[in-house]
Amino acid sequence: MISVVIGGGTMGAGVAHLFLAGGHEVVLVEAGAERASAARRAVEASLAKAADRGRLEAVPHELLKHLTVVERLDDVAAGASLVVEAVPEDVELKRQVLKAAANACPDAVLASNTSSLSISALAEGLPGERVLGMHFFNPVPVQQLVELVLHDGVSADVVARVRGWAEALGKTVIEVRDAPGFATSRLGVAVGMEAIRMLEEGVASAEDIDTGMRLGYGWPMGPLRLTDLVGLDVRLAIAEHLAAELGPRFEPPALLRDKVAAGHLGRKTGQGFFTW
Ligand SMILES: NC(=O)c1ccc[n+]([C@@H]2O[C@H](COP(=O)([O-])OP(=O)(O)OC[C@H]3O[C@@H](n4cnc5c(N)ncnc54)[C@H](O)[C@@H]3O)[C@@H](O)[C@H]2O)c1
Repeated sequence: MISVVIGGGTMGAGVAHLFLAGGHEVVLVEAGAERASAARRAVEASLAKAADRGRLEAVPHELLKHLTVVERLDDVAAGASLVVEAVPEDVELKRQVLKAAANACPDAVLASNTSSLSISALAEGLPGERVLGMHFFNPVPVQQLVELVLHDGVSADVVARVRGWAEALGKTVIEVRDAPGFATSRLGVAVGMEAIRMLEEGVASAEDIDTGMRLGYGWPMGPLRLTDLVGLDVRLAIAEHLAAELGPRFEPPALLRDKVAAGHLGRKTGQGFFTW
């Protein structure tokens, strides 16, 4: 099958890797020549890393024969069955990209990898029966979950097809109604915000809050370290969105705002709740 991935950043490169490893023909769309070659290098590096770790059955350079990187959607994608957009978290940009995909790929399912935006809002003006959220997790080739986000207008046939594709790629699927933050972001942010409030109130140290959840509740990593990995700015934006949609229980703590204002964004800047 032909799958199109729009946006070749962190998530798009991972999705392209996953689809190649699953035997898809992949068309990866990136804006501009420089970013297109960076996206190709990211997919190459991701496949090479998986091969080194024994997590890839095929040889990377064989898989890469099935990757086409383009700067615009064109005829190469007309026969696509699936489009996944992974451009930055901006409603207008995502709408624009999905609209172009709906025209260029008349038979394709149109999936958004948004981690927080309303799928109904993204589907406005599009053939809604073939639009849904297909939320992957970072790093895409490794993380087990795909969260399908279903707005009222999506067809049951499209949901069944996407579930089948995701399961064939080795993923476990959950289905969630199109509600703010879906299931994962909503719960993840709720715990993350509470952990930051506890730190603010001096209940325990960052290390001890995280150790509590790791060893007491079997979390692979504590909520503060996870916030550092995701990026404090990214988490702040999602919390603000959830507070606007769901009420003050998601209001971001002052400590989070202060750290973002100081440029302490987590692992990517070397400093967040921990020093990296
Ligand atoms: N990073 C994560 O952990 C994560 C997890 C789940 C979901 N998401 C979601 O995935 C999406 C992408 O996130 P990311 O972290 O990969 O972002 P990113 O910034 O790493 O990548 C986005 C890419 O899209 C490209 N792009 C921008 N406009 C484009 C256009 N018109 N056409 C083609 N490409 C274009 C950019 O050049 C960039 O390479 C967002 O909606 C985000 O919320 C991210």
